[in-house]
Amino acid sequence: MTPEQQQIRDLAREFAENELRPHAEAWDREGELPRDVVAKLGELGFLGMLIPEEHDGLGLDTTSYLIALEEIARGDASVAVAMSVHNSLPTQMILAHGTGAQKERWLRPMARGELLGAFSLSEPDSGSDAASMAAQARKVDGGWVLNGAKAWVTNGGFGDVTVTMVRTDTPDDRRGAKGIGAFIVPTDAEGYIVGKKEDKMGQRASETVGVAFREMFVPDDQLLGEPGQGFIYALQGLNGGRLGIGALAIGIAQAALEHSLAYAAERKQFGTAIRDFQGMQFKLANMATRIEAARALLHRAGEAKETGEKAVQLASMAKLFASETAMYVTTEAVQVFGGYGYMKEYPVERLFRDAKVTEIYEGTSEIQRTVIARELYR
Ligand code: CAA
Repeated sequence: MTPEQQQIRDLAREFAENELRPHAEAWDREGELPRDVVAKLGELGFLGMLIPEEHDGLGLDTTSYLIALEEIARGDASVAVAMSVHNSLPTQMILAHGTGAQKERWLRPMARGELLGAFSLSEPDSGSDAASMAAQARKVDGGWVLNGAKAWVTNGGFGDVTVTMVRTDTPDDRRGAKGIGAFIVPTDAEGYIVGKKEDKMGQRASETVGVAFREMFVPDDQLLGEPGQGFIYALQGLNGGRLGIGALAIGIAQAALEHSLAYAAERKQFGTAIRDFQGMQFKLANMATRIEAARALLHRAGEAKETGEKAVQLASMAKLFASETAMYVTTEAVQVFGGYGYMKEYPVERLFRDAKVTEIYEGTSEIQRTVIARELYR
């Protein structure tokens, strides 16, 4: 780490330890995050890390962002996913494909943390096969009218603005992945209907909702780039998003390891601390080794994002390996805690639940393997 990266890590760690970790259990129980947490993330610059300074962001490199995100997730994975989606997807898509006016209107306040971003791609019948989406935009004078439904949108109602992918081709001229546009939509737009909040296994404080568009008018100046390129923009965004989820997964795993080390040192059975047993030492050693390997791969993928070399493949590898590491480490952590690990009173129970979705969202582990294999043959 450079001295600047160490400073960023320390700032994120201090914030996570003082302002997130002490509340994580209550937020999980209540299934809600207080809005002022987002404001604090914004004040500290964590919502504009990858946005250049000319647009009011911090203009940092990918690795610095991943280091900060890991620390935030170590404190609370629900806060981390809100931060990851905002930083990796809508803001990066507007930065890459937005006009000067769009950057001025949307990106600048997003970088300052005044507007929280969401990303809506999946639909009830279109998950891994994202290009098969059905939500439709109809061209009218001065803009588009959107109809359809999006599923599992992080920050979909809690956030202020979403970048949503919707078909721009017509029913008699279907163009597959090249018939989809990306639109910038404020969540208070007329016809933007937020559905019920999903009751999830983990990351319960992060808001996940279904959203419906009913005859929702979106002006032309809220279409990003070309009307047939939105799916490609979304996948480009996900290449970065998957790194964010990798960092988040490592943060969960790191927290589970730390709790396990402390517990194994303090818990006595057969007259000695359980850390003295070789069976326990092997567990802890395996957990720590996998975390280090996942982090090294993630940072390698972060560097590849900057150079572009093997970036897609490495992003999928890092997301795959980090999320499976999080699941492995949190499962072992519950085992280290024994009966107590199964109780909500102890933090590893929540970390175990929080880890699972990292193998699912922003592309399942199966999709990551598909992407990796395709890249190997490219
Ligand atoms: N980066 C950039 N471009 C890409 C790309 C990538 N990773 N993968 C594909 N593309 C381009 C292709 O090059 C192609 O363009 P060309 O024809 O010009 O070459 C175009 O996109 C279409 O690609 P494919 O034909 O490969 O498309 P496909 O229909 O076979 O699907 C897929 C590819 C990899 C399966 C893709 O659909 C996918 O990644 N699915 C998973 C969806 C996903 O990750 N959803 C996450 C939901 S969002 C979320 O979870 C956020 C949250 O709230 C937490």
